[in-house]
Amino acid sequence: MTDMDMLERRYRLMGRGAPLFYDTPLHIVRGEGVWLYDADGKAYLDAYNNVPVVGHCHPAVVGALSRQASVLNVHTRYLHDNVLEYTERLTATFDESLDMACFTCTGSEANDLALRIARHRSGGMGIICSDNTYHGNSTAVNELSTMFDGGRPGSRNVRAVPFPDTYRPLDGLQGEALCDAYVARVAREIAAFKEEGIGFAGMLVCPIFANEGLPNVPDGYLRKVAALVREAGGLLIFDEVQAGFGRTGNMWGHQISGVVPDIVTLGKPMGNGHPIGGLVARAELLNGFRDHVMYFNTFGGNPVSCAAGMAVLDVLRDERLLDNARSVGGYVLDGLQRLQSLHEVIGDVRGQGLFFALELVQDRASKKPAGAASKRLVNLMKEQGVLISRVGRHDNVLKIRPPLPFSREHADRLLETLDACLVSLRSAA
Ligand SMILES: Cc1ncc(COP(=O)(O)O)c(C=O)c1O
Repeated sequence: MTDMDMLERRYRLMGRGAPLFYDTPLHIVRGEGVWLYDADGKAYLDAYNNVPVVGHCHPAVVGALSRQASVLNVHTRYLHDNVLEYTERLTATFDESLDMACFTCTGSEANDLALRIARHRSGGMGIICSDNTYHGNSTAVNELSTMFDGGRPGSRNVRAVPFPDTYRPLDGLQGEALCDAYVARVAREIAAFKEEGIGFAGMLVCPIFANEGLPNVPDGYLRKVAALVREAGGLLIFDEVQAGFGRTGNMWGHQISGVVPDIVTLGKPMGNGHPIGGLVARAELLNGFRDHVMYFNTFGGNPVSCAAGMAVLDVLRDERLLDNARSVGGYVLDGLQRLQSLHEVIGDVRGQGLFFALELVQDRASKKPAGAASKRLVNLMKEQGVLISRVGRHDNVLKIRPPLPFSREHADRLLETLDACLVSLRSAA
């Protein structure tokens, strides 16, 4: 069966709306470390996927999964060591105030549960999110998904604020004035919830604003917002579904800001591809919720999922992947800045650990987004055997976010290919 046949079959079985990457979709059959292989045996350097955080099909994770699956897998209404040991090990990676966990299967469910806890506790319904974000696909969480809806939330219980950004700053402001302007927008929406009688439950944001395009956040923004939210009786929820598990060179993305949230939600890399998500919160918050609400998740926290989760923590530690994210991350960032000095189309380069955003613009003075060029570049890179993607309000931000065992040699391959593709993009223009 050719790839075209497969595509037709897929359209027939799954519908044309089921999303696919690339103009010519990729038929991947195998993964190992930072490499993916297509059906013809062609190797692709994976500089995009954060779910296989310790590398595709890492033997330690595969071994842990299969060993536990061959002994027992059940839901969490029985006593089992794995769920206890994993919870202890996971919560130990957070500030000591965040000492209790609840497991789910996806990031969406984790965020959904966080919203329920915040609303239950405050008695209000109002949630603040950013105006270009995605937090998942349940009905409640989808109301916050402003990324696909022109920045507008899907309910009067949700209000969106402009995400903090120094490259395209609000009202052209800078420094502390810029920070305060963004914070004032949060204050305004809290007041609006109160005036409308909706009440304020909390604010849910990614601490590094990954889906917004990894902007450089004005100093002090999260600290000031945390104070405001708490003063107003709300909970601060950080969605670490993308930012967490070492991505930024810190175990958790929020550690960059030094702000400790009330709830942290988790997913994607947590099981290196095995579906496990969850949240970590203060015991007082989770107990306060559970005392009134029976929350049960059939698959969340099962012994196999917890075995996978523990193996991920083992590999992050044993292979010193946070150190690697910092050192190789710095090396890639230098390389990307070098490319910016050679290619006018790169308006801004941003990075945290092994997570990078390149904002492509039609010209640097106007900062007019180069969305079409970004699309061509992502496809060109794939043809050259390097996988990246794009994100941002104008789809003009290249998103580079490889598995963490990414070495300097891999980085050189990424940078050389990007340079060559930028040259051919310019020649074609
Ligand atoms: C920041 C963030 N939160 C939550 C989710 C939802 O996670 P899931 O697809 O596992 O439900 C995503 C998925 O892309 C995400 O990027």
